[in-house]
Amino acid sequence: MVITENVPLAPLTTLKVGGPARYFLEAMSVAEVSEAVEFSRSRNLPLFVLGGGSNLVISDAGWPGLVLKIGITGINHRHGHDEVVFEVGAGEDWDKFVGMVVTHNIAGLECLSGIPGSVGATPVQNVGAYGEEVGNTIESVLVLDLRDRQLRELGKEECAFSYRTSIFNTSERGRYIILQVNYLLKHGGEAYIAYADLKKYFAGWNKKPTLADTRDAVKKIRAGKGMLIVPGDDDCRSAGSFFKNPILSADEYERLTARAAAKNLQIPSYPALATQKKVSAAWLVEHSGFSKGYGNGSVGISRKHALAIVNRGNATAADVVAFKEDIQGRVEEIWGILLEPEPVFVGF
Ligand code: EPU
Repeated sequence: MVITENVPLAPLTTLKVGGPARYFLEAMSVAEVSEAVEFSRSRNLPLFVLGGGSNLVISDAGWPGLVLKIGITGINHRHGHDEVVFEVGAGEDWDKFVGMVVTHNIAGLECLSGIPGSVGATPVQNVGAYGEEVGNTIESVLVLDLRDRQLRELGKEECAFSYRTSIFNTSERGRYIILQVNYLLKHGGEAYIAYADLKKYFAGWNKKPTLADTRDAVKKIRAGKGMLIVPGDDDCRSAGSFFKNPILSADEYERLTARAAAKNLQIPSYPALATQKKVSAAWLVEHSGFSKGYGNGSVGISRKHALAIVNRGNATAADVVAFKEDIQGRVEEIWGILLEPEPVFVGF
C-alpha cells in the first residue's frame, strides 16, 4: 500500500477544478481498502472515496485527509436460465463494462452508454439516461460498512433507488464504501427505445435497432450534447448535468405554468418528464438568461447543453460555485424554483 502526499485532485475529475489531497491512495483490493480505512482512523483523518471523478466539484483547498481512489477491477459472470449476473469491481470503467455487455448481446444497460465514471459510482446516484436507471438492474452491492468495518451485501431493496438517489447519497451517506456491484441482466433482450431522442434517431430505419445500434446512437446523442468525454472538446470539461430536474407537486407545477403563460412561454412536457412530475432544469436555466455558450470568463454554460457548467480552462472551484449560485438565484427569482445541484461537493 503506497500512500502519497499532496496529490492534485483536479486532474482526477472531469471538471478539472480543486486543490490537492493531503494523503492519497489508490486501493486495488478489498484488503487495501480496509488498510486505508485503518490509516485514516488511526490518524483521525477525514476520508473521501473517489471513483471516476465525473460528478465532483472539489474545493480549492482540496481535501484535508485521505482520498481513497477505488481501483478494484475484475468482471465475473454467472449464468442463469435466460439471465446473467455480472459481478463487477467498483473501480472498473463504467463504459468499458457497458460496451462488453452490449457486445455479448445482453440487454439492460445499452441506454447508459457513454457515461463517464466508475462502476462503483453508479448505485450512489442511481445513474440514469434514456429511460434506463442502474437501480433497475442492480441485484446487490458489496460494501465495507464503516460503522463496524464489516463487509456486507446490500440487496436492491435496501439500496432504496429513486431518481438520482439511493441510501448511499441520502440516509446512509458516508457509511459504506462500495467495493463491487452485481447486475442482473437479460440474455438477448431487446434494446430499450423509449425516449424521444432515441426514437427520432431511429425514425426511418427499416430494421429493429440492435443493442449495439442503440449504444452507438446514445453515444452520438450524448456527444451532440457535450455529455460524452471527447478529448479536445472544451464543452465536456464539466461535471455533466449540474442540476437535477426538479420534481414538482401539482400546485407548484400549476404556478410554474402560470408564470410561463404570463411570458407567452410553454414549459416543455413529454412522457419521460411527466411520469415523474419532473420539469426540465435545462429549460429553466436557458429561460433565466443563461443560454448555451453563455459566459466568456473562466466558467460558462456548454455550447451544447444548458445544464452543463463548463470550466473554460482556468476556472477555480470558487468560480464554479459563484456561477452556480448566480444561476440558482436567477432561476428562483424568475421561476420560483430552487434548483438542486447534481454533483457532489467535496471539501467545502
Ligand atoms: N433543454 C433545453 N435546453 C438545453 C437542453 C435541453 O431547454 O440546452 C430542454 C428541452 O426541452 C429538452 C429537455 O430540456 O427536451 C430535456 O433535455 P435532455 O433530453 O437533454 O435531458 P435532461 O433532462 O437535460 C436528463 C438527465 C441526463 C440524461 C438525459 C437523457 C438529469 C439531471 N439529466 O437530462 O443525465 O443523460 O436526461 O436521459 O436527470 C446527468 O445526470 O449527468 C445526465 C447527463
